[in-house]
Amino acid sequence: MSDNVFIFGHPLIQHKVSLLRDKNTSMKDFRDLVDEISMLMVYEITKDFELVETEIETPMAITKTKVLSERKVALVPILRAGIGMVHGIQQLLPNARVGHIGLYRDHDTHEPVEYYCKLPVDVADSTVIVLDPMFATGGSIAAALKILYAKGCKDLRLVCIVAARYGIERIEKEFPDVKIYCAAFDEELNPNAYIVPGLGDAGDRLFGTK
Ligand code: PRP
Ligand code: URA
Repeated sequence: MSDNVFIFGHPLIQHKVSLLRDKNTSMKDFRDLVDEISMLMVYEITKDFELVETEIETPMAITKTKVLSERKVALVPILRAGIGMVHGIQQLLPNARVGHIGLYRDHDTHEPVEYYCKLPVDVADSTVIVLDPMFATGGSIAAALKILYAKGCKDLRLVCIVAARYGIERIEKEFPDVKIYCAAFDEELNPNAYIVPGLGDAGDRLFGTK
């Protein structure tokens, strides 16, 4: 895998992913875990954000210190399951705009079908963080990245919770400039293109639709 792929080894993230995978985890706990894992991942995703020097006054003295430089950030969850990752990331990046791309996988072909797209007006000038907990064949992510590149986006980062080798290798090949962050990595897809062991259907588990 290229240097653009980051798989988290942090114990807190590993622990929470194990709870998420458990089929007995309730909908509420599943939702909370997706939220917490997403928030923890922000630490790495923003590692290259620039700082600028500023002067502040503490109760003790005037001092020079550093704050984040102005940077537009857009979060783009892929509907539905990506929505579950938005709140955790907003906890740490409260000024990020949010765009939505609606895609579902056709049950027979496993190909993504687009049904919605609404993005911030200045998305092309933003650091765009695409959110989808499940990265299986990479079809949905490829479709979302195509839409974002067509809008002129240049700095694209992809954040997933469980990623399969097949999807990662596909996106690395088709979109070599995209940085990929995954909380966990699985080798296999089953004949229905579900990740194994994975965690099942993320959308259904988040929203209780099954
Ligand atoms: C799931 C998931 C991804 C996609 C991953 O969404 O949230 O978007 O499948 O599979 P891929 O990498 O093979 O494209 P799904 O199509 O089930 O829609 P949903 O979020 O509305 O449940
Ligand atoms: N979508 C999911 O929700 N889970 C998978 O394992 C694959 C696609």
